[in-house]
Amino acid sequence: MTTSNLVPTLAIIILMTTNCSSNHREFGKAPSGETVELYTLKNAGGMEADISTYGGVVVALKVPDRTGALGDVVLGFDDFQGYLLPPPYFGALIGRYGNRIAHAKFTLDGVEYHLAKNDGDNSLHGGKRGFDKVLWKAKPGNGQSLELTYLSQDGEEGYPGNLSVTVVYTLSDNNELKIDYTATTDKDTVLNLTNHSYFNLAGQGEGDILAHQLTLNADRYTPVDKGLIPTGELRGVEGTPFDFRQPHAIGERIGSSDEQIVLGGGYDHNFILNRTGDGLSLAARVTEAKSGRVMEVLTTEPAIQFYTGNFLDGTIHGKGGKVYGRRSALCLETQHYPDSPNHPDFPSTELKPGATYHTTTVYRFSTGS
Ligand code: GLA
Repeated sequence: MTTSNLVPTLAIIILMTTNCSSNHREFGKAPSGETVELYTLKNAGGMEADISTYGGVVVALKVPDRTGALGDVVLGFDDFQGYLLPPPYFGALIGRYGNRIAHAKFTLDGVEYHLAKNDGDNSLHGGKRGFDKVLWKAKPGNGQSLELTYLSQDGEEGYPGNLSVTVVYTLSDNNELKIDYTATTDKDTVLNLTNHSYFNLAGQGEGDILAHQLTLNADRYTPVDKGLIPTGELRGVEGTPFDFRQPHAIGERIGSSDEQIVLGGGYDHNFILNRTGDGLSLAARVTEAKSGRVMEVLTTEPAIQFYTGNFLDGTIHGKGGKVYGRRSALCLETQHYPDSPNHPDFPSTELKPGATYHTTTVYRFSTGS
């Protein structure tokens, strides 16, 4: 190689290195001392998603408003330390079991399994150290996707089977954040994976979400007891504050004296999606008038947890020092029904060796008038 072409070659190498390293950086240190990375996915339109290898957390999601200005529409922390505090589960991957399992136990193949109790007498979102608190192995794609893998050992948090989990985040040029979940096991087990992003389409920390308009493609939901465990009934939404088949402001009926609204402290319920076939189908649509942002949720899952951030109380200071008050965000967690392992009549959450668990959820952003 002559010196005359060495210079351009070096320039290319430097450029390549800068490009590769520019899409991830050190975010912090996990309690184990291992380095936590933060990856930035970026699409052709400039939309961005920051994803942490700790918890697979969507730390930031920057989405254009109707003027094209980017705004971060998810709650979270600038500083990694925030994610080590007791969790509201901001942006995290949830497993092995999204939502609650009553009395933290279930029976499978005649064996009773005991889980960690981390929500009164119940197990919530995978237990004391769920998938939101583990370090995932990352394999970046082309700058618009990130593959995360985690091997959950047999007996972890009380669940049977060595479970190999892969989650792929992809940011499309159509402003969609797609999440693909895949898992296999070497023993019969139960599984219900989801993502726990808290959305505020006006921008994180920009007030409450009561004026957001919501449509949910659900004729029925699962009423809960005072521990927020499904009673087993599948109840029609007709004539109740749970009827979002036509768009309604979230705040319109949230103060209702409906027993279920009172038990949930607002909305914190599993809606059963109207669906045909097993492909991606539209579950929810949220619009926010000031920004013009629209979010649609599509999923292969049978249900969705609609949660209005009722437990947020203003004690958490998030990104940019914003105070996260009650109902300052909403969650739309695609899932199987809570406590399914104790409800044989609910769609099954069992996974057997030789079978592959695979679900997909898409958060699609656009703007309206
Ligand atoms: C889920 C549950 C809520 C609450 C949050 C986390 O959405 O349904 O009851 O536990 O997670 O705070």
